[in-house]
Amino acid sequence: MSAEPIQTLRGRVAIVSGGGNGIGGAIASELAARGAKVVVNDIDAERAHRKAAEIGPAAIAAPGDASSSADVRAVVTLAIEAFGKVDILVNNAGMDQAVPILDLKEEDWDRLMAVNLKSAFLFSKAVLPGMIERGYGRIVCTSSVVAHRGAMNGGIHYGTTKGGMLGFTRTLARQMAKTGVTVNAIAPGVVDTDLIRTHMPDDVREQVIKDIPLGRLAEPFEIGRAVAFLASDDAAYMTGATLNVNGGFWIG
Ligand SMILES: NC(=O)c1ccc[n+]([C@@H]2O[C@H](COP(=O)([O-])OP(=O)(O)OC[C@H]3O[C@@H](n4cnc5c(N)ncnc54)[C@H](O)[C@@H]3O)[C@@H](O)[C@H]2O)c1
Repeated sequence: MSAEPIQTLRGRVAIVSGGGNGIGGAIASELAARGAKVVVNDIDAERAHRKAAEIGPAAIAAPGDASSSADVRAVVTLAIEAFGKVDILVNNAGMDQAVPILDLKEEDWDRLMAVNLKSAFLFSKAVLPGMIERGYGRIVCTSSVVAHRGAMNGGIHYGTTKGGMLGFTRTLARQMAKTGVTVNAIAPGVVDTDLIRTHMPDDVREQVIKDIPLGRLAEPFEIGRAVAFLASDDAAYMTGATLNVNGGFWIG
């Protein structure tokens, strides 16, 4: 019998962007398991509703495009109407495209920048006034091991956004340092989700597993648990940091 997780997030309200699937879905479940109320945002409404239903009354679905300022405002409004405030923001929404630079279209570069990076700006800007007013907030931004070692298989635009997420995190951490809001990044290694299954051919996957000292891909819940730590009071003295959860794929 597994023990119930300690309720480190009791009374907290979290928004998880791209929370309907994969890593975001696991983050939403882990935050709820620790007592948080969770707002599951996803551009895929069905995924958002399915995940919120799976969690139960502690969660609501808030479909919307994380790269659209109107949708982001609507998600934050819904969160406040349902749960009164937002304490935790997880900027997780993201997409990848395994396209070599010479085949990459300008509009695809722009779209990926908007979904992977601008979304973090829009969501952070929307929740920060309330966090600053209450003197408390936790923002966690999803980067990747590719920010450190380059994308093995993903596009140049993907690798660029994941490095950009670290710059965003470090700069916002400094700007928020006196407000009670901490801002940290999580940099997962290769996690067994649809994003990887869709974009990584089997031969690359096998080579990657050989290169990972722990000898396997990560499970989404292992990233969820690390985010739950960053979102808790246990991480009160961390800001501007990057938590690498990668099985030793990049050690630095
Ligand atoms: N899987 C990995 O190995 C890995 C490694 C490092 C970092 N990451 C990052 O983790 C995050 C989640 O990746 P994943 O593997 O779970 O992917 P996934 O494709 O399984 O899930 C991503 C979710 O985001 C949603 N989404 C996409 N665009 C959106 C938008 N504009 N607005 C709102 N929601 C949107 C999708 O519908 C989907 O439900 C991404 O930022 C990704 O870059 C993944």
